[in-house]
Amino acid sequence: MLQVRNLKKSFGTLEVLKGVDLDVNKGDVVAILGSSGSGKTTMLRCLNFLERADAGTMLFDEKQLELHSASRADINALRRRTGFVFQNYNLFANKTALQNVTEGLIIARKMSRAQAEKIGRAALVEVGMEDRADSYPSQLSGGQQQRVAIARAIAADPEIIYFDEPTSALDPELTGEVLAVMRKLAQEGRTMLVVTHEMDFARHAANRVIFMDGGVIVEQNDAETFFTNPAQPRTQEFLQNYKQRSLL
Ligand SMILES: Nc1ncnc2c1ncn2[C@@H]1O[C@H](COP(=O)(O)OP(=O)(O)OP(=O)(O)O)[C@@H](O)[C@H]1O
Ligand SMILES: [Mg+2]
Repeated sequence: MLQVRNLKKSFGTLEVLKGVDLDVNKGDVVAILGSSGSGKTTMLRCLNFLERADAGTMLFDEKQLELHSASRADINALRRRTGFVFQNYNLFANKTALQNVTEGLIIARKMSRAQAEKIGRAALVEVGMEDRADSYPSQLSGGQQQRVAIARAIAADPEIIYFDEPTSALDPELTGEVLAVMRKLAQEGRTMLVVTHEMDFARHAANRVIFMDGGVIVEQNDAETFFTNPAQPRTQEFLQNYKQRSLL
């Protein structure tokens, strides 16, 4: 359903993405791994036009877009079909959990408040936050805020959801509740592209794993093969480093 070819992005003289090719099928849960600075966030942001790529094409279902020059109308149409979950939740501080979820439905999708609230409450149920619908972000833990952010993403019924390190700002004890929600979404067959450092999630909840390094995709494989039999030396080194760190 998503095909990306030759995605390139530089910041000044720093070439961050050097021609990335990516294919995502409906129902795929793709984990994107890679060391810090390898371009994972930049790639996700380019795919949703939060950052303008220098080159590359995207085929989203039947719709072809030039990443460099897509029109505002095409970008808005694409964004209506995608969801984005950020590392730092990005909730409005002055809106309740429910208002955060319904805002986009009412403003961008011109839904009636009643309909938006019905959908919004169902989304909060899905992430286990229905009893906190009237709480403000400051009254919620990081894990709860992130679950509201996930509810906001799924309320719009996106065809694909991009997650950028959704648990990395959380204390370890709050990570589990967010990963549990993401596992549930994966099992429901949602299409997800997840930048993460959570190896257990990558191995067991994702069906494919992509490893990025130096602005390119170095290796991609089904999750089990990726972890048990990595082909590239760079991938082996990355997994070895991770294993050593987790044994400390
Ligand atoms: N807006 C920007 N302006 C200049 N340089 C940037 C900008 N955004 C990212 N970079 C640089 O691009 C490179 C890739 O950054 P990116 O955030 O995509 O990495 P990442 O793989 O997500 O890393 P991390 O695991 O630390 O989140 C880094 O060297 C970063 O400093
Ligand atoms: Mg990042």
